[in-house]
Amino acid sequence: MDDLAHVGHLTDLADLLRPAAIRAAATLGVADHIAAGVHDTERLARLCGTRTEVLDSLLRYLVSLDLLDRDKNGGYALRDAARPLLTDHPLSLREALRLDGVTGRSDTALLGLVHTVRTGEPAHVGLFGRGYWESLDEDAAGSEAIERAALGQLVFDAELIRDTYDWSAVRSVVDVGGNTGAILTSLLTGHPHLRGTLVDLPGVTRVAAKNIAEAGVQDRCEVVAGSFFDPLPAHRDVYLLSAILGDWDDAQAVAILRRCAEAAGGTGKVLLADVSLDVVMKSDDTARTELLLRAMMPRPVRTVAELTRLGRAAGLRVTWQGPVTPVRSLIEFSA
Ligand SMILES: C[S@@+](CC[C@H](N)C(=O)[O-])C[C@H]1O[C@@H](n2cnc3c(N)ncnc32)[C@H](O)[C@@H]1O
Repeated sequence: MDDLAHVGHLTDLADLLRPAAIRAAATLGVADHIAAGVHDTERLARLCGTRTEVLDSLLRYLVSLDLLDRDKNGGYALRDAARPLLTDHPLSLREALRLDGVTGRSDTALLGLVHTVRTGEPAHVGLFGRGYWESLDEDAAGSEAIERAALGQLVFDAELIRDTYDWSAVRSVVDVGGNTGAILTSLLTGHPHLRGTLVDLPGVTRVAAKNIAEAGVQDRCEVVAGSFFDPLPAHRDVYLLSAILGDWDDAQAVAILRRCAEAAGGTGKVLLADVSLDVVMKSDDTARTELLLRAMMPRPVRTVAELTRLGRAAGLRVTWQGPVTPVRSLIEFSA
């Protein structure tokens, strides 16, 4: 390659327009409208709520990327390559790519990667001055995104929490950072004697309350909007932290554990069900995955020994330890 070719190659590698255009199309639902029979820019612009002339530039650019075609009337048609942008495609990428979605918002922060490389902090903090969860929480679009993302399934061996911990003598559990309620509803359904409290940021709790009602366990469950850096509902038997600490550095993680410890008091327990993404980082494309995870979270990997040290720093001692799988560990602490 000569210098000019190198410049062209690097320019192409660094081009931001291609992903931005595809994600703009996913956000606007362009493919859905075209598939519904709307082919001309003016009507598409009305449906998408856009400027006609700029939308036309976007559509022509998508033609140049072989995602759209021109039809005989000068309108736009979908090429097969663009079909995964359809909302109802069996392998739809629309939700993942739209910029107002849960992953789209997180992916956008990759533009702040240099902040992570410099400081180890999430890219989101460098780019937007606040963490991802906080920013997701700050407007109604965030709640809508959480709702659409349908984060209902148990992930990272989360069923271990329900199945391997001895809940028989436990009466009340607080799911701290319980997200949309998938884990808490599975706990309350699997252990009908339990009462639950879900604590999360307000935008998330709106969705959680709906899910908890749909699961039919609302009479045994309260939902509290708040921060786990502030005092938590006190005197419950167990304070569960599932997949929380990876988003926080050691000092912040100890602060969260301290809030759980003080609410648990002398008799309650803190059940740390942490996720460690070591195996995920060691997947085929290690460097890429590692960089992606590091851009999103300060500590994607912590060993049981490291977690135990954090617990001790928060004034807790280990009173039970459950199974350790490649992605999940369970540690019960008491004050
Ligand atoms: C990675 S998710 C874990 C969700 C769930 N515990 C699980 O295991 O699937 C992190 C959760 O922490 C919540 N969160 C982030 N910051 C918070 C804060 N300051 N106070 C309470 N919840 C917070 C987020 O809204 C999100 O639901």
